[in-house]
Amino acid sequence: MSPDAYTTEAVQQAIAHGAITDAYHADPQQVIQELNRLRATEVTSYLQYKQHAYMAVSLFAPGLKDDFEAHATLELQHADVLAQRIQQLGGVPIYRSCPSPLRIIPAAPRATDQPTPTVDFPMRG
Ligand SMILES: [Fe+2]
Repeated sequence: MSPDAYTTEAVQQAIAHGAITDAYHADPQQVIQELNRLRATEVTSYLQYKQHAYMAVSLFAPGLKDDFEAHATLELQHADVLAQRIQQLGGVPIYRSCPSPLRIIPAAPRATDQPTPTVDFPMRG
């Protein structure tokens, strides 16, 4: 389309048409569902990074807490971007918690101890 085709009327029609144009061939409802699923992982990542920040109390890495806080902020920004796209497609950003990314990993048994489970916090995002 040449720039001359962008008349005021054409631009107003395009705005009124919204994010789903004739060239958009995806199923908006399916895309919205996947974006909400992805958004849930971003929110979960935010919570994980916050948890890491709460736990980061080390004299040897004093900036670690700030790093985790910065990552947490980024994850919320990702969630916001996804929410904006969901709304552009006519959907509603909803949060359904995703399955816990925490994995219980049994510690290797020692000769004198009973096995003690440890919790692994895999990073996402
Ligand atoms: Fe992210």
